[in-house]
Amino acid sequence: MKKIIFTAMFLGLIAINCSTTPPKVLSVSSPDGSVEVKFDNTDSTMSYSVSYKGDEIISKSFMGFQFKSHSPLLSCIKIADYKTGSYDEVWEQPWGEERLIRENYNELSVDLIEVNNEQKKLQIVFRVFNDGLGFRYLFPEQENLEYFEIMNEITEFNIADDADAWWIKAFQPERYEYLYQHTLLNDIDSIDGAHTPLTLETSDGLYLSIHEADLTDYASMCLRRVGSNKLKCKLAPWSDGVLVKANAPHKTPWRTIQIGEKPGDLVTSRLILNLNPPNKLGDVSWIKPAKYVGIWWGMHIGKWSFMEGENHGATTERAKEYIDFAAEHGFDEVLVEGWNVGWVEEWWLDDGSGISFTETTSDYDLKEVQDYAKSKGLTLQIYHETMSNTRNYLNQIDSAFSLASSLGIKTAKIGQVGGKLDKKEWHYGQYAVKYYREVLKKAAEYKISVYFHEPVKATGERRTYPNMFSREGARGMEYNAWSGDGGNPPEHTCILPFTRLLGGPMDYTPGIFSMNVPGRPINQVNTTLAKQLALYVVLNSPVQMAADLIENYRGKPAFKFIEDVPVDWETTKVIDAAIGEYVITARKDKNSQDWYLGAITNMNSREFIINLDFLDAGITYTAQIYKDAADADYKLNPEAYDIVELQVENSDEFSIVLANGGGMAVRFTPEIRK
Ligand code: NOJ
Ligand code: CA
Repeated sequence: MKKIIFTAMFLGLIAINCSTTPPKVLSVSSPDGSVEVKFDNTDSTMSYSVSYKGDEIISKSFMGFQFKSHSPLLSCIKIADYKTGSYDEVWEQPWGEERLIRENYNELSVDLIEVNNEQKKLQIVFRVFNDGLGFRYLFPEQENLEYFEIMNEITEFNIADDADAWWIKAFQPERYEYLYQHTLLNDIDSIDGAHTPLTLETSDGLYLSIHEADLTDYASMCLRRVGSNKLKCKLAPWSDGVLVKANAPHKTPWRTIQIGEKPGDLVTSRLILNLNPPNKLGDVSWIKPAKYVGIWWGMHIGKWSFMEGENHGATTERAKEYIDFAAEHGFDEVLVEGWNVGWVEEWWLDDGSGISFTETTSDYDLKEVQDYAKSKGLTLQIYHETMSNTRNYLNQIDSAFSLASSLGIKTAKIGQVGGKLDKKEWHYGQYAVKYYREVLKKAAEYKISVYFHEPVKATGERRTYPNMFSREGARGMEYNAWSGDGGNPPEHTCILPFTRLLGGPMDYTPGIFSMNVPGRPINQVNTTLAKQLALYVVLNSPVQMAADLIENYRGKPAFKFIEDVPVDWETTKVIDAAIGEYVITARKDKNSQDWYLGAITNMNSREFIINLDFLDAGITYTAQIYKDAADADYKLNPEAYDIVELQVENSDEFSIVLANGGGMAVRFTPEIRK
């Protein structure tokens, strides 16, 4: 099904002084009429407002720009022309949380021109979907605006209602790795602002996520509170203070507002993906989602070192042990960190200039290990820790990827530990956006899929470059191993699906079975073991790690769930959720008729009776249920679980009982009929 219709209307360019320009308001609604956007040029300024089912949700919000060497583009602007159109197509994801995605929107595109000053031209395009909207600015090729530097983007989000907000503060040393704050909208930081996706629950009970899509050659948008319930775009600057450096024609990312009546509506909205261009890589049959184990947690809990030495984690011998384990349990890949030359003891303080992406430590033979992996039917991943030294990395990038691809490696994990890239640029300014894109495209040349740690945030680029697998970009499992505050509190994973993961998949690295961290009494993994299993379903990623030391899996029947759970889905449904409290997610495997369910709670125990109406009709399923034992508790008895089996159908009700900090994971397999 493909339909695209555009109609053009010429409004007439009448030479009028801006003060006497007649009022002009243009509007566009979503295909089902529920979302309406108005663009307002009545006073020769640019603003927009949004309503949902007839109620205003975004009040008049100004738009515009200030530049370094050009006059501002804020007022004395008139509409030169506009176009409306609609689009309806279903496209297929090569991998992901849902195979078939409907892209259905109405569009309004407005051509604007300054009446005096430099007569600069600007185009604003609105795309309105049933689940929200996006708008972007385009600077067309024009005489008075060739090279330009943006010093302020005046995009406001004037929220009509009081709201609760879930957010993390921007411009902090640990990038996106902070616990989410849950405050009133009016308590969002007014100086540094918050990162996006920023999630709101309005006093009318609507859920909004403000974010951006197709962040390409531009600075990331943060949101600063500038008045009562009003947010304004704050772009991450270059080290010289300029926000964006560009030559016309140039366009901004889409500024997006997703709208849901339930928290789960934000999770199942595909608006961010739909606002990215289609696959540019052509045949992507080489891109394979993967489950992996690795030499990783041992370094974080202080058992092994990244650096070569007595307790070095990455030895040939240990890598082979991990490969044996991976092969025995059906894993696709093995990650080995600290395999290369250049790590120092306090590596997180280092400038990374000594890191080699091709030379191995003396106790690790990359080729031998990879040959061994291949002989067992799997492959290594490659790990590139750049230490945020992008110059050192980019200087070696061809040899680094060429080595990996010559060995048959398909996936690269790429880390950027450091407060700033090259000690001067934010991980989310325009330099960073270009850097991560360059690395992604370079990896694609070598047919390698990547997942970034210490990334720029996800804005849906995986649609265009499907080798963009996953990323960190929030506090992941590692914080439980060493964080001075003891680790991620149980509510953290009940917030992530409605904040960070709205941008795209996350490499959280679940699957820890041994919750205490030896020698670090304040640190603990703050979940039950059953909740660790449920995270594979709740936190979507096409690369999922079984993060614990392999010896902690041996003899544990619960490990069967990690062996079974897929990383690529036909469809996703959020059965029930309250942000920060609990999440129940169901997903159907892309490669079988199986369904999986993950339920997690914060520190409070809960009980639910849910309908199994998401299951396919007419099929009897065996439900393998991994649940918290009756006496399980994330602090006192985290590792106690039970496994039970039930026969169920889609007309059945199903009971979910979660311990404090607990969870439940279920595999539903169609019964084989005799
Ligand atoms: C931080 C990453 O998040 C983690 O996964 C990695 O092990 C370390 N950096 C070392 O590079
Ligand atoms: Ca990290």
